[in-house]
Amino acid sequence: MRFLEGPATARRLRACLDGAGLDFAGMTERLGPHAVAHVAAGELAPLVRATRAGDALDTLLRLFVVGVPVSLGDARQALAPVPVEELAAGGVVGIEGDDVVAHITVRPIEAPAAWVVAHDRTPRAGAPPAADHVIGVSTSSMALAGATVRRPGVSTLDIGTGCGVQALFASPHSQRVVASDLNPRAAAMATLTLELNGVDNVEVRTGDMFDPVAGEAFGLVIANPPFVISPSERYLFRDAAAPVDELCRTLVRSAPAHLMDGGHFQCLASWAHIAGEDWRERLAGWFEGTGCDALVLVREALDPATHAANWLRQTEAPDRWEPEYDRWMAYYEHHRIEAIGLGLVTMRRRAGGEGWFRAEEVAQDFCMPCGDHIGAMFELADFVAAHEGEALAAARLRVAPDVVLDERARPGDGGWSVTDRRLRQTAGLCREGALDGAVAAIVAACDGSRPLAAILGEVARSVGADPGAVAGAALPVIHRLVESGFLLPAEA
Ligand SMILES: C[S@@+](CC[C@H](N)C(=O)[O-])C[C@H]1O[C@@H](n2cnc3c(N)ncnc32)[C@H](O)[C@@H]1O
Repeated sequence: MRFLEGPATARRLRACLDGAGLDFAGMTERLGPHAVAHVAAGELAPLVRATRAGDALDTLLRLFVVGVPVSLGDARQALAPVPVEELAAGGVVGIEGDDVVAHITVRPIEAPAAWVVAHDRTPRAGAPPAADHVIGVSTSSMALAGATVRRPGVSTLDIGTGCGVQALFASPHSQRVVASDLNPRAAAMATLTLELNGVDNVEVRTGDMFDPVAGEAFGLVIANPPFVISPSERYLFRDAAAPVDELCRTLVRSAPAHLMDGGHFQCLASWAHIAGEDWRERLAGWFEGTGCDALVLVREALDPATHAANWLRQTEAPDRWEPEYDRWMAYYEHHRIEAIGLGLVTMRRRAGGEGWFRAEEVAQDFCMPCGDHIGAMFELADFVAAHEGEALAAARLRVAPDVVLDERARPGDGGWSVTDRRLRQTAGLCREGALDGAVAAIVAACDGSRPLAAILGEVARSVGADPGAVAGAALPVIHRLVESGFLLPAEA
């Protein structure tokens, strides 16, 4: 299946969009900053009004972004030299009498490059999506894109590529990309997206999970899978044909066979909190024996009722809500699911030895992009493992450039007395934590010029304390500060 005859037609279509000024800035200026949200909510009136003047940009926005019919004459003019009939032949648009209506959306996205993506149109209010509906760029798409560890020159695999957005983001830093999807319509959509952007290092394949790449290994594997835990198997983009969280567990357990040593696998994942079981232990079990280190950044844990409502609202018409909601809740009860966790899994394949597992709750508003910070956490874990216990005292450390100290003080004893000290990261995962004055002084002195042992001695002398006692109390804290990127090895 193909939407366009080939890359040449895609290039000509893209030239029309560019010629009319249909880039992210042009779209936002003409339709306003809430254009995409308006389309998602089916609120077309503001968008139709904003495009009433009728120039080529208005026509193309109405056609490909707003999703309302335009006249055949306007379409011919705005799309020239691409014949409307050629777009209709592949199913990009339909000709209905004197009108042309787009069957898919083609829209610019906010990205490091001038990219457009093609995806299925948001169904009109009350209409359910088709089973093979190809979704557009969602918050979860952007969350994964922003958290991807991007090492130059890697070979990348994007599983469940959908509209091709992850493959698109991977194309500039990858030597080559394979993008695959179980849904043939998604594979065709991803091909269209990539061709519209003139990307030529991505190969699109169709198939289940890792089947299309049997025997192949990559430096980076990414997946935004249908992770939603529910009894539904209706939508390819949302529902896994596997019970509870088995799809994500299978991804985690299958990925290492397709990773080169040192390569990363990243996926968004959901996991069940089962009554009577420790969710961390259950999740840790996914990674046992995989030969990988694993970091799970936990975004949230929702109660089943909120989880069901959040997802059903996106696809179900109000009159289908109740039976579906009851079915989802009965499923959760049957499987003794008390809560549903959501987060980002990052694994790194080890050359040997036992892997470690960490699950860390992250701030809701961490800064994107943060892939470099996530990648660095694995290297910092290596450093900490090589400097266990007192060995860390011999290391030279420096404060990470994004770290600040916040202090809160109250008046007392004739001056300000500090009641709370917090070290904060202003970039990446934006962690923060309380610390005492002695550790704050040690961190401030870490400028990479001398070993930590010398700093511990200086701080002990300045407060008249025993150097051994200061080191004993501070070293475990310093270990954690290095592990979480507040302090870095001087040479890093
Ligand atoms: C949530 S969408 C993600 C789309 C896109 N990668 C993104 O980040 O926005 C999940 C995609 O996984 C695909 N998918 C579902 N089950 C799959 C399977 N077993 N193997 C491969 N792809 C699958 C769906 O067709 C859909 O395109």
